[in-house]
Amino acid sequence: MNSEVPIWAKAAVKSILLSVKSKDPFTYYHCCRVGLEAARLGAFMGLDSFQQSLLEYSGLLHDIGKVGIADNILLKPERLTDEEFKIMKGHSELSVLMIEPLVEQDRFFKLLVPGIRYHHERYDGKGYPYKMSGQNIPLTARILTIVDTVDAMTNTRPYRKALPMESAEKELLKYSGSQFDGQLVSQYLRSKQSKEVPLEDNLVSSEFLKVA
Ligand SMILES: [Fe+2]
Repeated sequence: MNSEVPIWAKAAVKSILLSVKSKDPFTYYHCCRVGLEAARLGAFMGLDSFQQSLLEYSGLLHDIGKVGIADNILLKPERLTDEEFKIMKGHSELSVLMIEPLVEQDRFFKLLVPGIRYHHERYDGKGYPYKMSGQNIPLTARILTIVDTVDAMTNTRPYRKALPMESAEKELLKYSGSQFDGQLVSQYLRSKQSKEVPLEDNLVSSEFLKVA
């Protein structure tokens, strides 16, 4: 079976992300950081370079559906109402919809769908949109939800100040086994302590992060 990243993948994803950036720069940089951290965790876990690329690209694309969310909801500086939150919850499925032509073109993009589609599911089944639980949630999605949440907590938003990394790690531990897969939380925390992660240095996510 073909286990390669298509040579055009980087350019295709960059185009999508630049359109995200023109609407919401925060989401652009968030996606880049999540892609990078997901690849880093995959490398720490000993996953092969193809699996690392799957994690990286799933992270890069997980929130692109936010371009389909109205600005008054996406960029709202206050807490969302229930109705607004319901609309916001549609973004993961919208992300999948937006990469459909790429999915049809190449198996690599097809393999990105589970991580993107289920990145807001919770281990205890209280996530969205499908309320999947435990190991039924694909591994990529269980990894993404950890790095996604840490990134959200450690960056300042209009409605909330950034938490220091130590507080974010405490939150992860608090919700280990409920929101998050406990084994992956331990792996993540260990990966953060580790200085020797066998990560390739020419990652597309780090290159995208350098875009001003
Ligand atoms: Fe998301």
